Amino acid sequence: MVNPGTSWVEGGNVTRTADVWILDRTDSVGTTDGTRALGAELTKRGLRVEAVDWESLTPSCLPAGVLRQDGRFEVPRLAVVCSRVLTRHAPGHLADEFAWLGLLDEAGTRLVNPLRGLGAYHNKIRQVAALAAVGLPVPPTRVARTPEDVDACLAQWRDVVVKPPHGHASVDILRLRAAGPDSPHPGGLGTRTGILVWHLLQRHRALCVQRYVANPGRDLRIVVIGSRVVACYYHVNTAPDGNTHHPLYPHGWAAAELPPGAEELALRATRTLGLDVASLDLLEGPDGPVIIEVNPSLSAWSSIERTEHDRSPHGITHAYADLLCDLLGS
Ligand SMILES: Nc1ncnc2c1ncn2[C@@H]1O[C@H](COP(=O)(O)OP(=O)(O)O)[C@@H](O)[C@H]1O
Ligand SMILES: [Mg+2]
Repeated sequence: MVNPGTSWVEGGNVTRTADVWILDRTDSVGTTDGTRALGAELTKRGLRVEAVDWESLTPSCLPAGVLRQDGRFEVPRLAVVCSRVLTRHAPGHLADEFAWLGLLDEAGTRLVNPLRGLGAYHNKIRQVAALAAVGLPVPPTRVARTPEDVDACLAQWRDVVVKPPHGHASVDILRLRAAGPDSPHPGGLGTRTGILVWHLLQRHRALCVQRYVANPGRDLRIVVIGSRVVACYYHVNTAPDGNTHHPLYPHGWAAAELPPGAEELALRATRTLGLDVASLDLLEGPDGPVIIEVNPSLSAWSSIERTEHDRSPHGITHAYADLLCDLLGS
């Protein structure tokens, strides 16, 4: 339920000066093409839209909401939460980011994506658990708190991927294979790998360990807006070791057909996590598509708008604006 254009706060009438905020961290990147295109499309439809730098806002306790740079209390009817709001936070401050978004939510702003899905499933372990609980295909997954835990996974699965529970952009991801029979080490981890895992545990305290899903060296990226798939393409792995993505080797792009059943998987996964929009990564495993990650945002879609990857009838920006207008009831 979206609040109407005004709300009652501490006995006073507070006018909402914007219908839609597009929340991002713009210090290093400025306003993106996607934000500009979405803003223009929504403006064309008569909505008041503003690109707002998340860093420029100060949380407000009473009344719940946020203060603008000049100290004004202001909340929009709807706020699009771009991925950088939750991936470029200061170390250890993720809980605060969710709390500040919660203040906006309590002030009546409809967050896209909704706070519940954003907060609960930002953690990869919980996300996998929620998807597995409704029968969606995900890799066998465990939590490791010690190098011995990783060893135990390696002993059982032989080939694993280790990643931070709150990771993104393939930072701190390792693929590990069990050492051969002539290894001098009793566990699966060799000395060097053991050191790496120890340091990752120091940094992240717990790691997500998954059985490696054999795949043709590419992710199938599926973009969902509301209840439809609006884009689909391959992210082709260019890392020299051919393992998981490497943050320093940007993936290539290639045209993809949707494998049978993949559309239904993507829509069910998005619904299960309570998201309005999502970018999913699937791998084409030996037994069919496996969901690796559901990212709760759309990023850099302007580069694929109206290309062969775009499956929406009138362009991705148009589909995104349709969804936001539906949510606003306008
Ligand atoms: N279990 C797995 N098996 C094989 N490859 C994986 C597995 N998990 C991750 N990868 C590869 O690593 C990439 C990054 O993993 P992901 O879980 O999406 O983390 P991030 O949040 O850093 O993007 C995936 O896109 C996929 O190519
Ligand atoms: Mg990913």
